[in-house]
Amino acid sequence: VPMKPGKGGHLSFDAIEPVSRSVDTVSVPDGYDWNAIIRWGDPLFKNTPAFDASKQSARKQAEQFGYNCDYLDIIVDKYSGRTGVLVANHEYTNEDMMFDAAWFQANKDEARKIAMNAHGFSVVEVKRKKNDKKWSYVQGGERNRRITASTEFLVDGPAAGSDLLKTAADPTGTKVLGTLNNCAGGTTPWGTVLSGEENFDQYFRGKGTAQEARYGIGTGATDRGWEDIDPRFGLHNDGYENEANRFGWVVEIDPQDPTSTPVKHTNLGRFKHEGANVRIAKNGKVVAYSGDDSRFEYLYKFVSKNTYSKHDRKHNMGLLSEGDLYVAKFEGNSPASEIDGSGTVPSDGAFDGMGTWLPLVKNGESKVDGMSIDEVLVYSRLAADKVGATKLDRPEDVEPSPVSGKVYVALTNNTDRGKDGKEGATEVSPRVRNRDGHVLEITEAGNDATAAKFTWNILLVAGDPNVNGSTYFSGYPADKVSPISCPDNLAFDSKGNLWISTDGAPGTIGYSDALHKVTLTGKDRGRVEQFLAVPTGAETCGPLIHDKDNSVFVAVQHPGEGGSFASPTSLFPDFVKNAADAGKGQFYGPRPSVVQVFKEDSKPGKGKGRNK
Ligand code: FEO
Ligand code: CA
Ligand code: CA
Ligand code: CA
Repeated sequence: VPMKPGKGGHLSFDAIEPVSRSVDTVSVPDGYDWNAIIRWGDPLFKNTPAFDASKQSARKQAEQFGYNCDYLDIIVDKYSGRTGVLVANHEYTNEDMMFDAAWFQANKDEARKIAMNAHGFSVVEVKRKKNDKKWSYVQGGERNRRITASTEFLVDGPAAGSDLLKTAADPTGTKVLGTLNNCAGGTTPWGTVLSGEENFDQYFRGKGTAQEARYGIGTGATDRGWEDIDPRFGLHNDGYENEANRFGWVVEIDPQDPTSTPVKHTNLGRFKHEGANVRIAKNGKVVAYSGDDSRFEYLYKFVSKNTYSKHDRKHNMGLLSEGDLYVAKFEGNSPASEIDGSGTVPSDGAFDGMGTWLPLVKNGESKVDGMSIDEVLVYSRLAADKVGATKLDRPEDVEPSPVSGKVYVALTNNTDRGKDGKEGATEVSPRVRNRDGHVLEITEAGNDATAAKFTWNILLVAGDPNVNGSTYFSGYPADKVSPISCPDNLAFDSKGNLWISTDGAPGTIGYSDALHKVTLTGKDRGRVEQFLAVPTGAETCGPLIHDKDNSVFVAVQHPGEGGSFASPTSLFPDFVKNAADAGKGQFYGPRPSVVQVFKEDSKPGKGKGRNK
């Protein structure tokens, strides 16, 4: 369907048609082009050699851009507009695509160490020339840093030092090596980066406790086999029973200081955090929203005890260390008989209702019967079960709009809803076997981020309207939107339009994963317009909208997933046709990369375009 250009910021574009999953490139609108800024393996430090897959080592990987970049920000330096830091986290590794199979079998220990070093974060300086819109990274930049599975983190908040966090290697329960499976995140108003430790269960071999089971930790050998080279990944090893309790947190890093110790914040609870995003409330308290990305899990919010101070960065860096933790309960306002599981809008015209933030921790005390504050924070899923929170369809990114204050929640999908005795449809989760997901819009009472009550409505019920009758776009005509499935990461442009990236569309609607702009206000509310598509096998992550600068950035995660080192299914972004042709710093096969999409005929603006 041809569509007219949208209105957001300076980034006007004609929506692209959905892209076949066999198209192995970044597809962008007419008048736009793209460029990979940094790729897996690119050298970060002065003496780091150019990437060569045949000579890869753990030592080199610790000095290279990591694998599977997910959260992304480019924090432009004040005044210059032409320098800054790019921050990306590295969620996980695809060993099948990183290593030659025979080499892997013969060098398993080294391969595991490489994988450990390909996790974590990269902080890397970026620059651009005067009047040039294209950013490039700076090898050897002063702020360049790698954080890996071995970097020391400080644990803070009420559960720091708890017996539940102590191990043989760390009897203090306050020092953890590494961060794992960092998915989405958020940049704070004081310029630090938050990131969620998501599917940490896969790194641990469990002992078989009920708490482990509630977090998905099994007792068998893990696929990654890290427990074979480091006893802390085997919870059955004496002294390491608690190691998994030291993951599943929101971490905070300071990208301006490469010598700073990153922090794990226990006050935000422990679960499979997708990410965390912050809003400053009217009274100055800082509120952080976070989703637990598993089927039938919950939405949480943290409210700081202390207030934000515009000119005291050090003080602000302690705000997430002390405060109250809540979990959301949703109630619909339509009769249950009108929620039939098909996703058909009830007769009052909306999926909507009221909600309550149920306290888990308040004023430094547990509000959950039979659980200490340490237990509530370390086993937050169990605490939320006890207070009767609402089970949602995999809450991914949760992001307050910097323009309106409304909070958006991407519910990516839940094919188990209504299946085999599992919970069925409710007004807030109105589709059984919810394959395509939906997006919630939450309004805090009085637009006060610290409020105990809220109202909510569903902004869109995703899918391809051409083949799926149960889509909904806040009343916008379904024949005039781009198909969208599996919403995951959220971002805003400076005008307050919502941008949604997807994870899983190839398996549901059959098109490549995408980035869409959604208009939230006016007569076009609910209009979904596709901006780009990622290469074969990839997921669109970390969207970053610098609309005043005519640029959009995405992390292209796991391109070619499902293929192998010998038989890659994606060649993005080097597009080398065979191994023998790979030149210096190139790779025959896919490389997760950060991509800048820019308007060809435009001049650069003054850096970022977002309201902060
Ligand atoms: Fe790592 Fe929830 O996506
Ligand atoms: Ca994600
Ligand atoms: Ca209703
Ligand atoms: Ca996802």
